[in-house]
Amino acid sequence: MDTTIPDTILNKQLFGDDFAWGVSTAALQIEGAHDADGKGESIWDVFSKKKGKIFGGHHHYTACDFYNCYQRDIDLIKQLNIPNFRFSIAWSRLLPDGTGRVNQAGIDHYNKVIDYCLEQGVEPWITLYHWDLPQALEEQGGWTNRKIVDWFTEYVALCAKSFGHKVKHWMVMNEPTVFTGAGYFFGIHAPGKTGLKNFLPAVHHATLCMAAGGRVLRELLPYAQIGTTFSCSHIEPYSDKARDVKAAQRVDALLNRLFIEPILGLGYPELSVLKGMEKYILPGDRESLQFDFDFIGLQNYTREIVKYSLFTPYIHAKLVEAKKRNVPTTAMGWEVYPESIYYILKQFNAYPQIKKIYLTESGSAFPDELHDGEVNDPERIAYLQQYLQQVLRAKNEGCEVSGYFIWTLTDNFEWAEGYNPRFGIIHVDFETQQRVVKASGRWYADFLK
Ligand code: GAL
Repeated sequence: MDTTIPDTILNKQLFGDDFAWGVSTAALQIEGAHDADGKGESIWDVFSKKKGKIFGGHHHYTACDFYNCYQRDIDLIKQLNIPNFRFSIAWSRLLPDGTGRVNQAGIDHYNKVIDYCLEQGVEPWITLYHWDLPQALEEQGGWTNRKIVDWFTEYVALCAKSFGHKVKHWMVMNEPTVFTGAGYFFGIHAPGKTGLKNFLPAVHHATLCMAAGGRVLRELLPYAQIGTTFSCSHIEPYSDKARDVKAAQRVDALLNRLFIEPILGLGYPELSVLKGMEKYILPGDRESLQFDFDFIGLQNYTREIVKYSLFTPYIHAKLVEAKKRNVPTTAMGWEVYPESIYYILKQFNAYPQIKKIYLTESGSAFPDELHDGEVNDPERIAYLQQYLQQVLRAKNEGCEVSGYFIWTLTDNFEWAEGYNPRFGIIHVDFETQQRVVKASGRWYADFLK
């Protein structure tokens, strides 16, 4: 079935001339070169070596070899008419020990990437932290150690001083909910820590760092656009029974409100699971958690349906998996639910403190295959069109939304899922590093023409 939408209905003019179109990536997922040119170890370098942690025993040591082939991929971005490129900096390339000694080769590398973008007319958007903490800092407790506020601000200042004269758009962090939840509570992402004793301090310190990072950028780069990004999913209760509705509210607080509200000066959401955080909150912290970001990046893939669950500790709620609901899903098992992005825009637009919103990630994984030199991915085209239709719906109803970035440019290392899910609009053969623009990539290029 062809579910794609004709271009006469969906075209970029409808979003306005100022709307920022882009594509997003992250250092660890594309760069490879995990120990090149003086780079220090990151928590993912260590985590990937542990048995059973990554699908198929995969690792990111080569990934898409973006570190060496960045020119080729930036050329492709240009060819696809994509004006904005979001990528992250690997902290341990710049500061191999996390703090102190600076690795000039790391700084030179990112300067080359940024310069090449600018030469090609592609605007670089930098994420400072996309989950690859230097291992040297993890050995001192990582995000559970309050000293991370000093470590992080030192790193942010170095980035601002090294790249600030060329880069206008900055994102302090990528999805703190995911790296604290998966990395410090469930232990399924690096560094593989578990339990509230790790999660709660990690949450508080990540929030402090987001605000502190924002302040460092503002001080050093008064003309920069400073943001940070959040994962968010529209949450719905499984039924209208009070206990399901309340369970859904708790999950919404945890997944969608936990980080944005303290940043906006509203404090952490009231949740019994967060009670234990009090002991990490020192006098003056409530004020330090606030920062007036120029923009907020929202990243949406799906919605979640939530049911009350007596046996789930702390939160007494569970997610009803999409596969049990007989709905269309992506290769990640996530429901394809375009309205989610509309509801999320509505939800975040209801915070009067938020000035500007960019959708800094949205996309889908499907089991794409290369046949006769082509990759046909109509599901991804339909996904993008349907989500964009919902973005437009929100925009036409008066919601603030200023841009949309597809996740992602090339198939890449999808964290604990290894190379199994393919999210790119460009296909990668990981043996040969050959790239083939998928039909979705050609569609995006046409759309952006
Ligand atoms: C986001 C994350 C990306 C990417 C994507 C698809 O949560 O920021 O790094 O992995 O999901 O799962």
